[in-house]
Amino acid sequence: MRVTLFISLLFIAVGLGAAEVSYQRDVWPIFKRHCIGCHSAQKTKGKLRLDDPKLLRSTGEDPLFVPGKPEVSMLIKQIIGDEPEMPQNEPPLSAAKVNLLRDWVLQGAKIDATPANSVPAVVIPKAYTSAPAVTSVTISTDGKLAAAACRSEVVLFKVEGNDAPRRVPTEFDLITHVELSPDGKLLAIAGGSPQQFGGVMFVNPADGKTLSVRRLGGDTFFRGNFAPDSKTIALGAANGAVFLIPVDASAPPKSIELHSDWVMDVAFTADGKQLVSGGRDKTIKVSSVAGLKLLRSIDQSPEMITSVAADPLNAIAAGDARVLKGYDFKIALSGVEVSGAGNGSRPVNKLTQYVRTYEGQSDKVTDLALSGDRKLLAVATRSAEIRLYQTTDRKRKTAITKVPAPVFSIALNGDGSRLILGSKSGEVQIYDTASSKLLKTIVPVPVLAKK
Ligand code: HEC
Repeated sequence: MRVTLFISLLFIAVGLGAAEVSYQRDVWPIFKRHCIGCHSAQKTKGKLRLDDPKLLRSTGEDPLFVPGKPEVSMLIKQIIGDEPEMPQNEPPLSAAKVNLLRDWVLQGAKIDATPANSVPAVVIPKAYTSAPAVTSVTISTDGKLAAAACRSEVVLFKVEGNDAPRRVPTEFDLITHVELSPDGKLLAIAGGSPQQFGGVMFVNPADGKTLSVRRLGGDTFFRGNFAPDSKTIALGAANGAVFLIPVDASAPPKSIELHSDWVMDVAFTADGKQLVSGGRDKTIKVSSVAGLKLLRSIDQSPEMITSVAADPLNAIAAGDARVLKGYDFKIALSGVEVSGAGNGSRPVNKLTQYVRTYEGQSDKVTDLALSGDRKLLAVATRSAEIRLYQTTDRKRKTAITKVPAPVFSIALNGDGSRLILGSKSGEVQIYDTASSKLLKTIVPVPVLAKK
């Protein structure tokens, strides 16, 4: 009896020691929790990526591991010792976690499955029980085609007539930005899944077919802007970076960490050479596109910046502070661009010399939109009014009242004759800006009729 029990116990002990370590169940959660903040597509410290199992053996300066030999494997050497190198500047991994990683390498570092979280379960209902909020809208340069984002789908529809809208599903939990390219050939859809990935998708607006999808980094994108040549989209990211993503799916994306918190919006200048960005860190910055370099932090707001734009002469920004300001590019950047030293250079001009104020806003600004010719600026706030300004003299031209507040997103077409808005109520409206006349109201997705 005794002997049998002893042997069984021994068996269990041996069994435990040799328990198969699963990449998916055991290893990936450790990487995800402790490592991918610095080792992913977004931030690739030491050139190493731990966010994608396919890249474990091909990235990093030295081989990450030697299967079966934890004692000579970089992955293990970096996490053990009195003061482990990794995770950098953070408390060491627990002994249990170190053991799991060591056993995984010892057992051959097998990948049993891709991480569960790389396939988020996005469900798009046939019909919604109540109208989902419209998070982003866009209208084509000619004012004939429009698109609106609701949860994980985008709906494309013609402004005139009653053709059935076309639903474009995505794999993103959240869509933060939709935009028809200036040349009208592409629809960009950006967003992602919180704390999982940022995504951008390019679609042919004529037939709703997906041309390409990219997943980048570890968190969602926010708003952005197509370059004037329609070849690149700039997007703000949760890690404080601005991404420049080429439409050509074989060209690599670029990014620059500009802000210390979420970048809520980015806009290209008319010549496509500079970017204006703003976000939760309350700063407004101008950077160069070619060198992807900060040119100047042009202002600091007391509250978060939610939206930016660029008219031919000025950067424009607004947000929770209820103020709308323009900043003369030429004066703000003179003496900065010449030296080209980015952060290090001392700007010669002071804020008061280049700030161009608009009238005060009645509530927090939720979105700004410029017409394609950059002559008309529309401003949405949390109140039920959209104001339109001429960018040349910053005078108010007109206002559209009694809109379904709060409006989350607005857009203007090429000549500013049409305004589209998307509301929290789930409604999308299109207005003629010259007469402030409402042309159309739709709820873009099917909603079950109330019984
Ligand atoms: C705060 C940022 C940060 C975190 C978090 C982090 N690393 Fe690193 N890691 C770095 C940096 C920076 C380097 C490259 C320079 C260095 O070695 O200091 C690096 C390099 C490495 C290298 C390569 C060393 C070499 O020379 O080839 C390995 C392996 C590594 N990290 C593993 C990990 C693992 C495993 C975790 C999670 C347990 C982790 N890192 C978490 C910043 C980080």
